[in-house]
Amino acid sequence: MKTSNAQPDSHSPLQSLEEWEDFLKARYPEPGTTPAQPFQATDPEKKKAEFRNYEADARPTVREFYRQNHRHQTYEFALAKRKELLTLNRRKMGVWEAAEYLNLLVDDSDPDTDLSQLEHLLQTAEHIRADGQPRWFILAGFVHDLGKILCLWGEPQWAVVGDTFPTGCRYSDKIVFPQYFADNPDSQDSRYQSPLGIYEEGCGLDRVQLSWGHDEYIYYVTKDYLPAEALYMLRYHSFYPWHREGEYQPLTNARDREMLQWVQKFNPYDLYTKSHTKPDVKALRPFYEDLIAEYFPTKLKW
Ligand SMILES: [Fe+2]
Ligand SMILES: [Fe+2]
Repeated sequence: MKTSNAQPDSHSPLQSLEEWEDFLKARYPEPGTTPAQPFQATDPEKKKAEFRNYEADARPTVREFYRQNHRHQTYEFALAKRKELLTLNRRKMGVWEAAEYLNLLVDDSDPDTDLSQLEHLLQTAEHIRADGQPRWFILAGFVHDLGKILCLWGEPQWAVVGDTFPTGCRYSDKIVFPQYFADNPDSQDSRYQSPLGIYEEGCGLDRVQLSWGHDEYIYYVTKDYLPAEALYMLRYHSFYPWHREGEYQPLTNARDREMLQWVQKFNPYDLYTKSHTKPDVKALRPFYEDLIAEYFPTKLKW
């Protein structure tokens, strides 16, 4: 199944979902590596200039993707998608089965050099395992992107991937391409434009309606089975304005602030462990089947 489409008005502007992740990697270079242009976080003016460069260097497909995402991800939309998709009455699948199902998502990227969805999951999980992390952490790595199956059910790319952000309150200017929010109807709605919007200070992220995507979906599918730390990783791994930019603190509660470290611990495995060395799916399968069985029932509701 193709996820891409060259039509300019298509809801699949990205040639592959990885285009978005590659952009994130350029925007958030791995700490300790030298980005193409030196990044001086100590100089706020410089930081601003570099930030603009990431946007300027973005591919037109990525730009179009963000334009659609920022325009269509309203508070009402996020609410409606939760209602529609969190009923989990579409399929019953085991976790490995879901990973194989997700692998049906084939895009226009080069199959010889790019990883399949299953390979990305295994690569993430294998790095976590190699670092001697707990078993639930490895499993979080394996399941973290399974929510991308939403693409197989006809959801547009902008409603599956993209850095997430709170709806129902003012947009942080640290969100990439903030100018595209001008086309979001919520930006004309005064209820949603104060710093806290419809929320109370310290209400906790659980009460905050983030833009809809694959994070919230996989959180919901797995929430009865994994430890809280893993669930934070899954639910907020794309919430870069919070875990990388430190924004939206007033919405968080003590538990969110305590759990943030786990989301941050997870992020490098997701973003920086991609290599073209393909994991041996067949050889790894028994280990992951055992791990899955340790935490999950044979079938989960999707
Ligand atoms: Fe993801
Ligand atoms: Fe990922």
